[in-house]
Amino acid sequence: MPDADLTLQTGNPAHGGSVVARDDGRVVLVHYALPGETVEARPRGKRGGVAWATAERILESSPERVAAPCPHFGQCGGCQWQHARYETQLEIKRKVVEDQWSRAGLRFPPAAPVLGMADPWRYRIRGEFEAIYPAAGGFELGFHRLRSHSVLPIRTCPLHDLRIERALGAFRQAVPELGIRGLKHVELTVEPAGLGLLWRAALEGRPAAAPGELTARVAELLPDLVVLDDSLDYEFWGLRFRVRSDTFVQANYRQMQVLYQTALDQLAPTPGDAVLDLYAGIGTISLALARRAGSVTAIEENPQAVALGRLAVRINGVTNVEFRTGRVEKALREVRLGAHQVALLDPPRAGLEQAAVAELLRLGPQRIVYVSCEPSTQARDIAALVRGGYRVRRAAIVDMFPQTYHIESVVLLERTGA
Ligand SMILES: C[S@@+](CC[C@H](N)C(=O)[O-])C[C@H]1O[C@@H](n2cnc3c(N)ncnc32)[C@H](O)[C@@H]1O
Repeated sequence: MPDADLTLQTGNPAHGGSVVARDDGRVVLVHYALPGETVEARPRGKRGGVAWATAERILESSPERVAAPCPHFGQCGGCQWQHARYETQLEIKRKVVEDQWSRAGLRFPPAAPVLGMADPWRYRIRGEFEAIYPAAGGFELGFHRLRSHSVLPIRTCPLHDLRIERALGAFRQAVPELGIRGLKHVELTVEPAGLGLLWRAALEGRPAAAPGELTARVAELLPDLVVLDDSLDYEFWGLRFRVRSDTFVQANYRQMQVLYQTALDQLAPTPGDAVLDLYAGIGTISLALARRAGSVTAIEENPQAVALGRLAVRINGVTNVEFRTGRVEKALREVRLGAHQVALLDPPRAGLEQAAVAELLRLGPQRIVYVSCEPSTQARDIAALVRGGYRVRRAAIVDMFPQTYHIESVVLLERTGA
Protein backbone atom coordinates (compact mmCIF):
# COMPACT_ATOMS: atom_id res chain seq x y z
CA MET A 1 0.00 0.00 0.00
CA PRO A 2 1.36 3.47 -0.83
CA ASP A 3 2.28 5.64 2.15
CA ALA A 4 -0.40 8.12 3.24
CA ASP A 5 0.08 11.78 2.32
CA LEU A 6 1.90 13.87 4.92
CA THR A 7 1.02 17.34 6.10
CA LEU A 8 4.30 19.24 6.13
CA GLN A 9 5.59 22.73 6.82
CA THR A 10 8.35 23.68 4.47
CA GLY A 11 11.59 25.45 5.27
CA ASN A 12 14.67 26.32 3.25
CA PRO A 13 15.21 25.44 -0.41
CA ALA A 14 17.56 22.54 -1.18
CA HIS A 15 19.85 22.12 -4.17
CA GLY A 16 17.96 20.14 -6.80
CA GLY A 17 14.67 22.08 -6.79
CA SER A 18 12.98 20.97 -3.58
CA VAL A 19 12.36 22.50 -0.16
CA VAL A 20 13.27 20.93 3.16
CA ALA A 21 10.52 19.79 5.51
CA ARG A 22 10.53 17.61 8.62
CA ASP A 23 8.21 14.75 9.42
CA ASP A 24 8.72 13.88 13.11
CA GLY A 25 12.29 15.15 12.83
CA ARG A 26 13.02 13.15 9.67
CA VAL A 27 14.09 15.27 6.65
CA VAL A 28 11.78 15.12 3.62
CA LEU A 29 12.66 16.99 0.42
CA VAL A 30 9.42 18.30 -1.08
CA HIS A 31 9.12 19.15 -4.76
CA TYR A 32 6.62 21.70 -6.11
CA ALA A 33 6.43 23.47 -2.74
CA LEU A 34 7.95 26.82 -1.72
CA PRO A 35 9.60 27.86 1.54
CA GLY A 36 7.09 28.80 4.25
CA GLU A 37 4.14 26.75 3.02
CA THR A 38 1.95 24.06 4.56
CA VAL A 39 1.36 21.29 2.05
CA GLU A 40 -0.06 17.83 1.73
CA ALA A 41 2.81 15.88 0.25
CA ARG A 42 2.89 12.40 -1.27
CA PRO A 43 5.92 10.32 -0.23
CA ARG A 44 7.83 9.09 -3.29
CA GLY A 45 10.53 7.00 -1.68
CA LYS A 46 14.15 7.74 -0.95
CA ARG A 47 16.95 9.16 -3.00
CA GLY A 48 20.51 9.01 -1.69
CA GLY A 49 19.09 7.88 1.67
CA VAL A 50 16.82 10.96 1.98
CA ALA A 51 13.02 10.79 1.73
CA TRP A 52 11.38 12.86 -0.99
CA ALA A 53 7.80 13.80 -1.73
CA THR A 54 5.70 15.89 -4.07
CA ALA A 55 3.29 18.60 -2.89
CA GLU A 56 -0.18 17.51 -3.96
CA ARG A 57 -2.27 20.15 -2.16
CA ILE A 58 -1.22 23.54 -0.90
CA LEU A 59 -2.91 24.19 2.44
CA GLU A 60 -1.17 27.48 3.19
CA SER A 61 0.34 29.10 0.17
CA SER A 62 3.41 31.34 -0.05
CA PRO A 63 2.81 34.85 -1.46
CA GLU A 64 5.67 34.01 -3.83
CA ARG A 65 3.62 31.30 -5.53
CA VAL A 66 2.40 31.84 -9.11
CA ALA A 67 0.50 29.65 -11.56
CA ALA A 68 2.97 27.60 -13.64
CA PRO A 69 2.34 28.38 -17.31
CA CYS A 70 3.45 25.03 -18.78
CA PRO A 71 0.79 22.27 -19.01
CA HIS A 72 3.52 19.64 -18.40
CA PHE A 73 4.79 21.26 -15.19
CA GLY A 74 4.43 18.91 -12.25
CA GLN A 75 5.11 15.80 -14.33
CA CYS A 76 8.03 16.80 -16.53
CA GLY A 77 11.45 16.53 -14.90
CA GLY A 78 12.79 19.56 -16.77
CA CYS A 79 11.52 22.44 -14.59
CA GLN A 80 11.40 22.71 -10.81
CA TRP A 81 10.54 26.35 -10.09
CA GLN A 82 7.83 27.50 -12.51
CA HIS A 83 5.50 27.94 -9.53
CA ALA A 84 7.79 30.59 -7.96
CA ARG A 85 7.89 34.27 -8.91
CA TYR A 86 11.03 34.83 -10.96
CA GLU A 87 12.61 37.14 -8.34
CA THR A 88 12.00 34.39 -5.78
CA GLN A 89 13.73 31.85 -8.01
CA LEU A 90 16.77 34.12 -8.02
CA GLU A 91 16.70 34.44 -4.22
CA ILE A 92 16.39 30.66 -3.90
CA LYS A 93 19.46 30.24 -6.11
CA ARG A 94 21.46 32.63 -3.95
CA LYS A 95 20.44 30.69 -0.81
CA VAL A 96 21.44 27.40 -2.39
CA VAL A 97 24.86 28.75 -3.37
CA GLU A 98 25.39 30.26 0.10
CA ASP A 99 24.56 26.88 1.58
CA GLN A 100 26.94 25.01 -0.74
CA TRP A 101 29.73 27.44 0.11
CA SER A 102 29.14 27.19 3.83
CA ARG A 103 29.27 23.36 3.60
CA ALA A 104 32.70 23.79 1.98
CA GLY A 105 33.79 26.09 4.83
CA LEU A 106 33.51 29.29 2.75
CA ARG A 107 31.39 32.42 2.82
CA PHE A 108 29.72 33.37 -0.46
CA PRO A 109 30.42 37.11 -0.96
CA PRO A 110 27.26 38.90 0.30
CA ALA A 111 27.62 41.65 -2.32
CA ALA A 112 27.56 39.16 -5.21
CA PRO A 113 24.77 40.02 -7.67
CA VAL A 114 22.29 37.51 -9.04
CA LEU A 115 21.84 38.45 -12.68
CA GLY A 116 18.43 37.34 -13.93
CA MET A 117 16.86 37.54 -17.37
CA ALA A 118 14.46 40.30 -18.41
CA ASP A 119 12.35 37.60 -20.10
CA PRO A 120 13.04 34.20 -18.50
CA TRP A 121 11.21 32.12 -21.16
CA ARG A 122 12.01 30.63 -24.57
CA TYR A 123 15.69 31.04 -23.89
CA ARG A 124 17.04 27.64 -24.98
CA ILE A 125 18.49 27.39 -28.47
CA ARG A 126 19.42 23.73 -27.92
CA GLY A 127 17.41 20.82 -26.56
CA GLU A 128 17.72 17.06 -26.34
CA PHE A 129 14.46 15.13 -26.51
CA GLU A 130 13.87 11.47 -25.72
CA ALA A 131 12.19 9.44 -28.48
CA ILE A 132 9.20 7.18 -27.75
CA TYR A 133 7.29 4.78 -29.97
CA PRO A 134 3.92 4.40 -28.17
CA ALA A 135 2.29 0.94 -28.34
CA ALA A 136 -0.70 2.55 -30.10
CA GLY A 137 1.60 3.69 -32.95
CA GLY A 138 3.15 6.97 -33.99
CA PHE A 139 6.17 8.70 -32.60
CA GLU A 140 6.59 11.13 -29.70
CA LEU A 141 9.38 13.23 -28.26
CA GLY A 142 9.62 14.18 -24.63
CA PHE A 143 11.53 14.52 -21.39
CA HIS A 144 12.11 12.24 -18.41
CA ARG A 145 9.48 12.57 -15.71
CA LEU A 146 10.63 13.99 -12.39
CA ARG A 147 13.25 11.64 -10.88
CA SER A 148 12.27 8.83 -13.25
CA HIS A 149 13.53 6.98 -16.30
CA SER A 150 10.08 7.00 -17.87
CA VAL A 151 9.52 9.54 -20.62
CA LEU A 152 6.70 12.07 -20.75
CA PRO A 153 5.68 13.01 -24.32
CA ILE A 154 5.56 16.77 -24.64
CA ARG A 155 3.81 19.07 -27.10
CA THR A 156 5.18 22.34 -25.80
CA CYS A 157 8.17 23.54 -23.82
CA PRO A 158 8.16 27.24 -22.94
CA LEU A 159 11.90 27.16 -22.21
CA HIS A 160 12.83 26.40 -25.82
CA ASP A 161 12.98 28.69 -28.80
CA LEU A 162 9.64 28.45 -30.63
CA ARG A 163 11.41 27.10 -33.72
CA ILE A 164 12.51 24.06 -31.69
CA GLU A 165 8.93 23.47 -30.58
CA ARG A 166 7.79 23.62 -34.20
CA ALA A 167 10.59 21.25 -35.20
CA LEU A 168 9.34 18.73 -32.61
CA GLY A 169 6.03 18.63 -34.51
CA ALA A 170 7.85 18.12 -37.82
CA PHE A 171 9.88 15.18 -36.45
CA ARG A 172 6.75 13.69 -34.89
CA GLN A 173 5.19 13.66 -38.34
CA ALA A 174 8.23 12.76 -40.48
CA VAL A 175 9.62 9.83 -38.46
CA PRO A 176 6.54 7.54 -38.75
CA GLU A 177 5.93 8.66 -42.34
CA LEU A 178 9.38 7.41 -43.31
CA GLY A 179 9.00 4.30 -41.15
CA ILE A 180 12.12 5.12 -39.13
CA ARG A 181 12.49 2.84 -36.10
CA GLY A 182 15.00 2.79 -33.29
CA LEU A 183 15.51 6.50 -32.61
CA LYS A 184 16.63 6.99 -29.00
CA HIS A 185 16.76 10.74 -28.83
CA VAL A 186 16.83 13.82 -31.02
CA GLU A 187 18.94 16.88 -30.39
CA LEU A 188 17.93 20.19 -31.94
CA THR A 189 19.84 23.47 -32.09
CA VAL A 190 18.71 26.68 -33.79
CA GLU A 191 20.81 29.53 -35.08
CA PRO A 192 20.39 32.48 -32.71
CA ALA A 193 20.41 35.01 -35.54
CA GLY A 194 19.75 32.94 -38.66
CA LEU A 195 17.38 30.37 -40.12
CA GLY A 196 19.42 27.23 -39.43
CA LEU A 197 17.97 24.25 -37.54
CA LEU A 198 20.62 21.64 -36.76
CA TRP A 199 19.53 18.13 -35.81
CA ARG A 200 21.15 14.91 -34.71
CA ALA A 201 19.59 11.66 -33.58
CA ALA A 202 20.92 8.71 -31.65
CA LEU A 203 19.88 5.40 -33.15
CA GLU A 204 19.49 1.87 -31.90
CA GLY A 205 20.33 -0.59 -34.64
CA ARG A 206 20.06 0.52 -38.26
CA PRO A 207 17.69 3.29 -39.30
CA ALA A 208 15.10 2.47 -41.97
CA ALA A 209 15.82 5.74 -43.74
CA ALA A 210 19.10 7.59 -44.15
CA PRO A 211 19.34 10.84 -42.15
CA GLY A 212 19.34 12.65 -45.50
CA GLU A 213 15.75 11.55 -46.16
CA LEU A 214 14.66 12.70 -42.73
CA THR A 215 16.43 16.04 -43.22
CA ALA A 216 14.66 16.48 -46.56
CA ARG A 217 11.20 15.64 -45.15
CA VAL A 218 11.64 17.88 -42.09
CA ALA A 219 12.81 20.66 -44.43
CA GLU A 220 9.58 20.28 -46.46
CA LEU A 221 7.56 20.58 -43.27
CA LEU A 222 9.51 23.66 -42.08
CA PRO A 223 9.96 25.65 -45.30
CA ASP A 224 10.95 28.86 -43.47
CA LEU A 225 13.96 27.16 -41.79
CA VAL A 226 17.20 25.78 -43.22
CA VAL A 227 17.44 22.21 -41.90
CA LEU A 228 21.04 21.13 -41.33
CA ASP A 229 22.67 17.91 -40.21
CA ASP A 230 26.33 18.97 -39.97
CA SER A 231 26.87 22.40 -38.39
CA LEU A 232 25.34 25.86 -38.01
CA ASP A 233 26.40 29.48 -37.59
CA TYR A 234 26.78 30.96 -34.13
CA GLU A 235 27.62 34.62 -33.83
CA PHE A 236 27.98 37.04 -30.96
CA TRP A 237 29.81 40.33 -30.45
CA GLY A 238 30.83 40.31 -34.10
CA LEU A 239 32.60 36.92 -33.71
CA ARG A 240 31.59 34.00 -35.95
CA PHE A 241 31.70 30.31 -35.06
CA ARG A 242 30.52 27.03 -36.51
CA VAL A 243 28.78 24.72 -34.03
CA ARG A 244 28.12 20.99 -34.36
CA SER A 245 25.77 18.80 -32.35
CA ASP A 246 28.74 17.01 -30.77
CA THR A 247 30.32 20.23 -29.45
CA PHE A 248 29.22 22.12 -26.37
CA VAL A 249 27.46 25.42 -26.81
CA GLN A 250 25.75 27.53 -24.14
CA ALA A 251 22.06 26.66 -24.51
CA ASN A 252 20.93 30.10 -23.30
CA TYR A 253 22.29 32.38 -26.01
CA ARG A 254 20.86 35.64 -24.63
CA GLN A 255 22.18 35.12 -21.13
CA MET A 256 25.48 33.66 -22.36
CA GLN A 257 26.45 37.19 -23.26
CA VAL A 258 25.79 38.34 -19.68
CA LEU A 259 27.82 35.37 -18.42
CA TYR A 260 30.77 36.11 -20.69
CA GLN A 261 30.66 39.84 -19.93
CA THR A 262 30.67 39.08 -16.21
CA ALA A 263 33.62 36.69 -16.60
CA LEU A 264 35.56 39.16 -18.73
CA ASP A 265 34.90 42.05 -16.32
CA GLN A 266 36.08 39.94 -13.39
CA LEU A 267 39.18 38.71 -15.20
CA ALA A 268 39.94 42.18 -16.61
CA PRO A 269 42.69 40.98 -18.97
CA THR A 270 45.15 43.55 -20.30
CA PRO A 271 47.30 43.45 -23.46
CA GLY A 272 50.21 42.41 -21.22
CA ASP A 273 48.43 39.22 -20.09
CA ALA A 274 48.83 35.72 -21.44
CA VAL A 275 45.58 33.91 -20.55
CA LEU A 276 44.80 30.22 -20.07
CA ASP A 277 41.24 29.34 -21.14
CA LEU A 278 40.60 25.90 -19.66
CA TYR A 279 37.68 23.68 -20.79
CA ALA A 280 37.43 26.02 -23.76
CA GLY A 281 34.83 24.27 -25.93
CA ILE A 282 34.85 25.81 -29.42
CA GLY A 283 36.69 28.83 -28.03
CA THR A 284 33.84 31.30 -27.66
CA ILE A 285 35.35 32.81 -24.50
CA SER A 286 38.90 32.43 -25.87
CA LEU A 287 38.18 34.63 -28.88
CA ALA A 288 36.34 37.21 -26.76
CA LEU A 289 39.29 37.26 -24.34
CA ALA A 290 41.78 37.55 -27.18
CA ARG A 291 40.49 41.02 -28.02
CA ARG A 292 41.63 42.33 -24.65
CA ALA A 293 44.58 40.07 -23.78
CA GLY A 294 48.07 39.62 -25.23
CA SER A 295 47.47 35.93 -26.02
CA VAL A 296 45.18 33.03 -25.12
CA THR A 297 46.03 29.34 -24.75
CA ALA A 298 42.81 27.32 -25.01
CA ILE A 299 42.71 23.76 -23.67
CA GLU A 300 39.84 21.41 -24.56
CA GLU A 301 39.55 17.62 -24.67
CA ASN A 302 36.98 17.27 -27.48
CA PRO A 303 38.90 17.19 -30.80
CA GLN A 304 35.76 18.26 -32.73
CA ALA A 305 35.46 21.34 -30.54
CA VAL A 306 39.16 22.13 -31.01
CA ALA A 307 38.77 21.77 -34.80
CA LEU A 308 35.87 24.25 -34.72
CA GLY A 309 37.89 26.54 -32.44
CA ARG A 310 40.77 26.55 -34.89
CA LEU A 311 38.29 27.19 -37.71
CA ALA A 312 36.87 30.16 -35.76
CA VAL A 313 40.40 31.52 -35.33
CA ARG A 314 40.76 31.53 -39.13
CA ILE A 315 37.23 32.81 -39.89
CA ASN A 316 37.71 35.73 -37.49
CA GLY A 317 41.31 36.48 -38.52
CA VAL A 318 42.54 36.09 -34.94
CA THR A 319 46.30 35.72 -34.44
CA ASN A 320 46.74 35.40 -30.68
CA VAL A 321 44.77 32.24 -29.76
CA GLU A 322 46.40 28.82 -29.67
CA PHE A 323 44.36 25.61 -29.10
CA ARG A 324 45.65 22.49 -27.40
CA THR A 325 43.70 19.24 -27.46
CA GLY A 326 43.74 17.30 -24.21
CA ARG A 327 42.44 16.90 -20.73
CA VAL A 328 43.17 19.95 -18.61
CA GLU A 329 44.68 17.93 -15.77
CA LYS A 330 47.25 16.43 -18.17
CA ALA A 331 47.72 19.27 -20.64
CA LEU A 332 48.60 21.72 -17.85
CA ARG A 333 51.71 19.63 -17.10
CA GLU A 334 53.17 20.87 -20.40
CA VAL A 335 52.51 24.53 -19.54
CA ARG A 336 55.62 26.47 -18.55
CA LEU A 337 55.73 28.08 -15.11
CA GLY A 338 55.28 31.85 -15.32
CA ALA A 339 54.03 31.79 -18.93
CA HIS A 340 50.47 32.88 -18.02
CA GLN A 341 49.29 35.57 -15.63
CA VAL A 342 45.59 34.77 -15.62
CA ALA A 343 43.33 31.75 -16.11
CA LEU A 344 39.67 31.20 -16.88
CA LEU A 345 38.07 27.85 -15.99
CA ASP A 346 34.69 26.60 -17.22
CA PRO A 347 34.58 22.89 -16.37
CA PRO A 348 31.58 20.56 -16.68
CA ARG A 349 29.42 19.76 -13.63
CA ALA A 350 31.97 17.41 -12.10
CA GLY A 351 34.30 20.38 -11.58
CA LEU A 352 38.09 20.11 -11.43
CA GLU A 353 40.00 16.87 -11.03
CA GLN A 354 42.38 17.02 -8.09
CA ALA A 355 45.29 16.89 -10.54
CA ALA A 356 43.93 20.00 -12.27
CA VAL A 357 43.81 21.87 -8.94
CA ALA A 358 47.39 20.73 -8.22
CA GLU A 359 48.59 21.93 -11.64
CA LEU A 360 46.85 25.29 -11.22
CA LEU A 361 48.52 25.75 -7.85
CA ARG A 362 51.88 24.85 -9.42
CA LEU A 363 51.39 27.43 -12.19
CA GLY A 364 49.97 29.99 -9.75
CA PRO A 365 48.31 32.49 -12.12
CA GLN A 366 47.73 35.85 -10.43
CA ARG A 367 43.99 35.80 -11.13
CA ILE A 368 41.60 32.92 -11.78
CA VAL A 369 38.01 33.28 -12.91
CA TYR A 370 36.04 30.10 -12.27
CA VAL A 371 32.78 29.75 -14.25
CA SER A 372 30.66 26.83 -13.07
CA CYS A 373 27.28 25.21 -13.69
CA GLU A 374 27.40 23.23 -10.43
CA PRO A 375 27.78 25.15 -7.16
CA SER A 376 28.67 22.09 -5.05
CA THR A 377 31.76 21.18 -7.05
CA GLN A 378 32.69 24.83 -7.54
CA ALA A 379 32.59 25.42 -3.77
CA ARG A 380 34.69 22.28 -3.21
CA ASP A 381 37.30 23.41 -5.78
CA ILE A 382 37.38 26.98 -4.52
CA ALA A 383 38.01 25.71 -1.00
CA ALA A 384 41.00 23.77 -2.38
CA LEU A 385 42.30 26.86 -4.23
CA VAL A 386 41.85 28.97 -1.09
CA ARG A 387 43.86 26.41 0.89
CA GLY A 388 46.50 26.70 -1.85
CA GLY A 389 46.89 30.47 -1.38
CA TYR A 390 44.05 32.14 -3.30
CA ARG A 391 41.47 34.56 -1.95
CA VAL A 392 37.90 35.03 -3.26
CA ARG A 393 37.59 38.58 -4.61
CA ARG A 394 34.27 38.73 -6.43
CA ALA A 395 31.39 36.49 -7.36
CA ALA A 396 28.17 36.60 -9.34
CA ILE A 397 25.33 34.22 -10.08
CA VAL A 398 24.16 34.44 -13.69
CA ASP A 399 20.79 32.80 -14.20
CA MET A 400 21.35 30.71 -17.30
CA PHE A 401 18.53 28.27 -16.51
CA PRO A 402 15.36 30.10 -15.35
CA GLN A 403 12.48 27.89 -14.09
CA THR A 404 14.95 25.08 -13.28
CA TYR A 405 17.19 24.34 -10.30
CA HIS A 406 20.40 24.70 -12.32
CA ILE A 407 22.78 27.41 -11.19
CA GLU A 408 25.67 29.11 -12.97
CA SER A 409 28.15 31.17 -11.00
CA VAL A 410 31.33 33.10 -11.73
CA VAL A 411 34.02 33.67 -9.12
CA LEU A 412 37.22 35.72 -9.20
CA LEU A 413 40.14 34.44 -7.14
CA GLU A 414 43.41 36.26 -6.60
CA ARG A 415 46.70 34.81 -5.48
CA THR A 416 47.69 36.21 -2.12
CA GLY A 417 51.22 37.14 -1.03
CA ALA A 418 52.53 37.22 -4.61
C1 LIG B 1 30.89 23.85 -19.70
S1 LIG B 1 31.69 23.52 -21.24
C2 LIG B 1 32.46 25.10 -21.49
C3 LIG B 1 32.81 25.44 -22.91
C4 LIG B 1 33.11 26.90 -23.20
N1 LIG B 1 33.87 27.55 -22.17
C5 LIG B 1 31.85 27.65 -23.54
O1 LIG B 1 31.47 28.59 -22.82
O2 LIG B 1 31.23 27.32 -24.57
C6 LIG B 1 32.95 22.45 -20.72
C7 LIG B 1 33.89 21.97 -21.81
O3 LIG B 1 34.93 21.22 -21.17
C8 LIG B 1 35.26 20.10 -21.97
N2 LIG B 1 35.88 19.14 -21.02
C9 LIG B 1 35.27 18.34 -20.13
N3 LIG B 1 36.18 17.72 -19.35
C10 LIG B 1 37.42 18.15 -19.75
C11 LIG B 1 38.74 17.90 -19.32
N4 LIG B 1 39.00 17.10 -18.30
N5 LIG B 1 39.74 18.54 -19.96
C12 LIG B 1 39.48 19.37 -21.02
N6 LIG B 1 38.24 19.65 -21.46
C13 LIG B 1 37.22 19.06 -20.83
C14 LIG B 1 33.96 19.68 -22.62
O4 LIG B 1 34.22 18.99 -23.82
C15 LIG B 1 33.30 21.05 -22.86
O5 LIG B 1 33.62 21.55 -24.13
